[in-house]
Amino acid sequence: MKTVTKRHWVLISLLCFLVGSLVDSSSPSSRLLSVTSKVGDRAVLPCSWKQRLESTPSSCHVQWATPADTVFEMNGKDRWEAEEFQGRVEVPEEKLGSGNCSLIISDVQIGDSGRYESFMVVDGVTATKTTKTKVFIQSVRLSVSDHKSLQSRGPGEDLVLDLYTRHSVRVVFQDRNSSEWSVLWMREDEDSERLQRHPVYQQLTMRKLKSSDDGIYKVLDQNGLAVSTVQLSVEETSTALKRQQLLEKQEATGLPDDAVKSSCSALLLFSVLLTSFQTIHLL
Ligand SMILES: *[C@@H]1O[C@H](CO)[C@@H](O)[C@H](O)[C@H]1NC(C)=O
Ligand SMILES: *[C@@H]1O[C@H](CO)[C@@H](O)[C@H](O)[C@H]1NC(C)=O
Repeated sequence: MKTVTKRHWVLISLLCFLVGSLVDSSSPSSRLLSVTSKVGDRAVLPCSWKQRLESTPSSCHVQWATPADTVFEMNGKDRWEAEEFQGRVEVPEEKLGSGNCSLIISDVQIGDSGRYESFMVVDGVTATKTTKTKVFIQSVRLSVSDHKSLQSRGPGEDLVLDLYTRHSVRVVFQDRNSSEWSVLWMREDEDSERLQRHPVYQQLTMRKLKSSDDGIYKVLDQNGLAVSTVQLSVEETSTALKRQQLLEKQEATGLPDDAVKSSCSALLLFSVLLTSFQTIHLL
């Protein structure tokens, strides 16, 4: 009796789940959308008000907000943006008129990650007066990630370190033999013979690398969050070449194949043992 009810319960919840996912997929715009981006890139948070409003509003008044604050608001020609998004957010006016209320965030930052919601503010008419109503349109989760790369240079060569955004303010360095981080560059620094900032692009050039430059470089923003991590190895081309050749040789001799074969034979041996054990047991 007990097992039957349990089975019923499982069946019912499975049914609920299936119905739930059907209902859910029939109205995709009501779901939380996810947008991923890398620091310094442009992120578009999708939004479309056409299906959400019963009639076309007399004026297009859009609002984007995080749970904590309003990020952007535009009502006709009037626009407002939060301080930390100054000069980085917009909803193109001509697109808004035709139903596209997507928010464009340029030079996106790690700290921009989070949940955003869009609203249209429409005039509601009651018998006595007109009132403003905020209609929820779309929920979007934005995830901003940092850049990571592995680089290899020969001694005497240059390294161009991408800063990705004007909000990158510091570069710290950890050499291969130590666990300490030292500050290599600050935004207010003047160019030196070793380090030069590109006059236009967000790039830093390290000139004439030495083997002591071998290590990890982190580009940090004002909040100390990593914008980029570069692992640099500085070695003679002959050393690098030798390592490459060694790798190729390992591949040619088929080390991985052998490993697979030996694990297969171990498995075979095990099953033979198991079968014989079972046979003995039966006898
Ligand atoms: C809405 O506008 C954004 C840019 O503002 C664009 O990337 C997106 O493709 C547009 N969406 C639709 C459905 O046209
Ligand atoms: C790390 O130590 C080795 C020897 O202990 C030395 O040859 C090498 O130059 C050191 N690397 C750096 C980046 O200081």
